[in-house]
Amino acid sequence: MYHGKLVSLRALEISDLDDLLCFYNTLELRSFLGPPIVRSRRYMEEWLVKASVSDPWNDGRLVLVIEEKETREFLGIARLEDIRLPHNRGEIGVSIYDPKNREKGFGTDAMVVMLWIGFQILGLNSIYLDTMEDNKRSIHIYKKIGFKPVGILRETEYMDGKHKGLLIMDILRAEFLDQYSHVFKDPQ
Ligand SMILES: CC(C)(COP(=O)(O)OP(=O)(O)OC[C@H]1O[C@@H](n2cnc3c(N)ncnc32)[C@H](O)[C@@H]1OP(=O)(O)O)[C@@H](O)C(=O)NCCC(=O)NCCS
Repeated sequence: MYHGKLVSLRALEISDLDDLLCFYNTLELRSFLGPPIVRSRRYMEEWLVKASVSDPWNDGRLVLVIEEKETREFLGIARLEDIRLPHNRGEIGVSIYDPKNREKGFGTDAMVVMLWIGFQILGLNSIYLDTMEDNKRSIHIYKKIGFKPVGILRETEYMDGKHKGLLIMDILRAEFLDQYSHVFKDPQ
């Protein structure tokens, strides 16, 4: 378990299936994430089985559950994917599933902990992400954490009858440590 100020990140378990399904198939959540094709319980179960046993070194993927630190309530998912060892890079993503749990600092905290795992446990050097160009809240937190905009893949996402651009942002290990090394001086 990895702890931030407000959240803990822990291994994904098969018992998380109901919490995943509860919000995954809502248009509200999926409109931020990509084409909202409805997913069956079976599909999600198969995804969960694969994701819960994936190994960052062999499968290039680490998926963790974000929990509220005190109550251990399921909040969402944090993931590192496209982990490429010769390059020491990876792609990051964080989502807080239930709208009532958003804008309480959980997403920022989970992103910082996942970056720490990427840089300080997996030894990555560069971590990137993509987000819809109009997702103002996520862009705000990524900039605040220290991600830099790289560019926009223009009209690359088809959502709700329109094409939207995908903003790519990245952060380097040295930039992250410059800002956050003091936070993780005493890991719990
Ligand atoms: C994006 C997400 C991870 C952020 O997590 P969160 O817990 O809601 O965010 P936090 O509470 O940590 O921070 C929210 C920040 O956004 C700001 N914000 C909210 N709405 C905003 C807007 N429309 N424009 C700019 N900033 C905004 C808040 O003021 C706050 O900033 P502050 O801490 O400087 O005051 C979460 O909202 C989420 O999962 N949303 C749905 C799915 C999604 O968008 N995933 C990301 C895909 S790239």
